Amino acid sequence: MASDSPRRAMITGITGQDGSYLAELLLDEGYDVYGMVRRTSTETIERVNHIKERLNFVAADLTDQTSVIDAVNDVRPHEIYNLAAQSFVPTSWKQPIFTGNVTALGVTRMLEAVRMVDKSIKFYQASSSEMFGDVRETPQTELTPLYPRSPYGVAKCYGHYITINYRESYDMFAVSGILFNHESPRRGLEFVTRKITNAVARIKLGLQDELRLGNLDAKRDWGFALDYVRAQWLMLQQDDPEDFVISSGETHSVREFCRIAFEHVGLDWEKYVVVDPKFYRPAEVKLLLGDCSKAREKLGWIPETSFAALVQMMVDADMLRHKAELAVSQKS
Ligand code: NAP
Ligand code: GDD
Repeated sequence: MASDSPRRAMITGITGQDGSYLAELLLDEGYDVYGMVRRTSTETIERVNHIKERLNFVAADLTDQTSVIDAVNDVRPHEIYNLAAQSFVPTSWKQPIFTGNVTALGVTRMLEAVRMVDKSIKFYQASSSEMFGDVRETPQTELTPLYPRSPYGVAKCYGHYITINYRESYDMFAVSGILFNHESPRRGLEFVTRKITNAVARIKLGLQDELRLGNLDAKRDWGFALDYVRAQWLMLQQDDPEDFVISSGETHSVREFCRIAFEHVGLDWEKYVVVDPKFYRPAEVKLLLGDCSKAREKLGWIPETSFAALVQMMVDADMLRHKAELAVSQKS
């Protein structure tokens, strides 16, 4: 292949929130983009439907070593972004073995594929602030000790360290981005931010009466997913493989998120939010706050979207979607 042919990137988890934004970014940067998708009985490509003609899909599953090796061998990518995971924390208590298989061992399967097919492939691992768990210091940096509080967090710690281990054992360009919570209108409906903004829109339009939530005191360092996928790409454009914390540098409670979201449509959150212990977790991560100084200095990365702008963007998107759906149902 000629040296000026487009660079090839493979994304596992392309059908997820981050995968969809990263695919757009890589297409804009001129890459040929390959998305790993697993077999399902119905299509799950809603988030990338608008760009599907420009993407290449390869069938594989992170729980199946042969399929992963075949996918990497067929595509021969220059860069791999390993975003696939069982990523919902409460599910990790219900399905701890499955979560470990995908979110922990799945990383080794990807790294093994790279080691066997071509060790020069650059590899990005989607590590998580959930690894800090019961935080040992605040703010959290690349050097903060890990203390995970969920099977998901434990699985992510494994993925984090196996990535470092392959880097050090096999001299591979394998890096971890320790990303703090990042959200968008494409966030899954079960995560608290989207659960809130979706409910705000439905309550405003008279489709729902109340919003049942768990721990309102939990604090998170929330940013915008589109900003965060740029950091993922930047990490693979460096000369040396290094791990980075990516965060907004601010922390806000679930309660504050509710207040801003409801206020944005002129409602008082306290009239609609009901605390339901059903949504409490067996072990909670009470506070996350990241220090992304290293990313600022070495990647030149900064978060560009404020917390309030993020909340409002998500509410606006859900309002638009529900209004459009209402208009269609009223016509028919
Ligand atoms: P997401 O929306 O839940 O997407 C997860 C993706 O993984 C989906 O495309 C899913 O495919 C795929 N997947 C799951 N199991 C798979 C398997 N066995 N084989 C192949 N693909 C599989 O997650 P996200 O929010 O975009 O997050 C991306 C990554 O970053 C995840 O690893 C997550 O744990 C990590 N992370 C996220 C955040 C955050 O705040 N968003 C923060 C830190 C780290 P299907 O469509 O088939 O289900
Ligand atoms: N999901 C959910 N639903 N969370 C709730 C609710 C509720 O009804 N009520 C309160 N919360 C609290 C949770 O207890 C938690 O403290 C916080 O809201 C955030 O929950 P999620 O939005 O589910 O995200 P998460 O922080 O557990 O995990 C996300 O961020 C991690 C990075 O720190 C996921 O995207 C993970 O995949 C990611 O690694």
